[in-house]
Amino acid sequence: MLEITKKTAVITGGASGIGLALARYWTENGGNVVLGDIDLKALDYAASTLKPNVATVLCDVTKEEDCAILADTAIEKFGEINLVAPFAGIIMDSMMVSPDKETGKVTRKMSLTQFQKVIDINLTGVFLTARECLERMINNNCKGLICFISSTGSLGTAGQINYSSTKAAMSVMPKVITAELFRRGFSDKIRCSAIAPGYVGTEMVKNMNEKALSRILSDVPIGRLIEPEEVVSLIGEMYKNEAIAGDVFFIHGGLRLGSGG
Ligand SMILES: NC(=O)c1ccc[n+]([C@@H]2O[C@H](COP(=O)([O-])OP(=O)(O)OC[C@H]3O[C@@H](n4cnc5c(N)ncnc54)[C@H](O)[C@@H]3O)[C@@H](O)[C@H]2O)c1
Repeated sequence: MLEITKKTAVITGGASGIGLALARYWTENGGNVVLGDIDLKALDYAASTLKPNVATVLCDVTKEEDCAILADTAIEKFGEINLVAPFAGIIMDSMMVSPDKETGKVTRKMSLTQFQKVIDINLTGVFLTARECLERMINNNCKGLICFISSTGSLGTAGQINYSSTKAAMSVMPKVITAELFRRGFSDKIRCSAIAPGYVGTEMVKNMNEKALSRILSDVPIGRLIEPEEVVSLIGEMYKNEAIAGDVFFIHGGLRLGSGG
């Protein structure tokens, strides 16, 4: 079992939501965190609440250089990287095509920008963050876990062809990376897995209109949103327990089981 004390987590999207909850969990357990985010104000606020073992990097995960600086910061400040949590993510929902109710002809489409932006942040950004951190983990002889964040959306959600596609990718990446690390002889030190939450009570979800939220909750057997702390507790277990490697762990309160979702 791995310890968190004095170990270092690199978290993107770390200024809010699940990323921030993970940073809180990690520092409360004696670890160091490096937070990357594009929201400078939120990043500064997050750091002020997490002192003292925190470094922040203004980082756009779609930029290769920003991701390199993020990973370098962890090595320079704390000497190693033990948990990589590339959690920066967005949604830009829309049906792929929307026909007009009267004429039956398509009047609106998901734009290329809507599709591409979600791919750039949720997929390419995750690839860049993980690649830069993994390079430094190997070069600095670090032990730990790369933990991607998928979603129940990876199973396919109407109105989210962009988001669902990126989250399906998060489910396969741990298998690819685990196999690659195994071939290269690093899989006993560096593991890779993913977590796939259902609806988590972060600002993104809480800000939904009441009708949409109650429709969602009617499909959740436990009858409520998942708390960010519940997601983070599972990540902690995945980090500590070295038998866990290469797979995706769902945490959704029973969503879709017996529902039409
Ligand atoms: N909230 C949920 O119900 C839920 C469920 C399943 C998976 N997830 C996933 O968890 C992750 C975090 O979600 P959350 O609910 O905490 O959202 P959130 O909106 O609270 O946090 C996302 C963070 O990412 C940052 N970000 C956005 N674009 C960025 C970029 N280009 N570079 C760096 N940072 C950027 C934002 O500034 C924000 O701080 C996402 O990947 C999301 O898809 C969330």
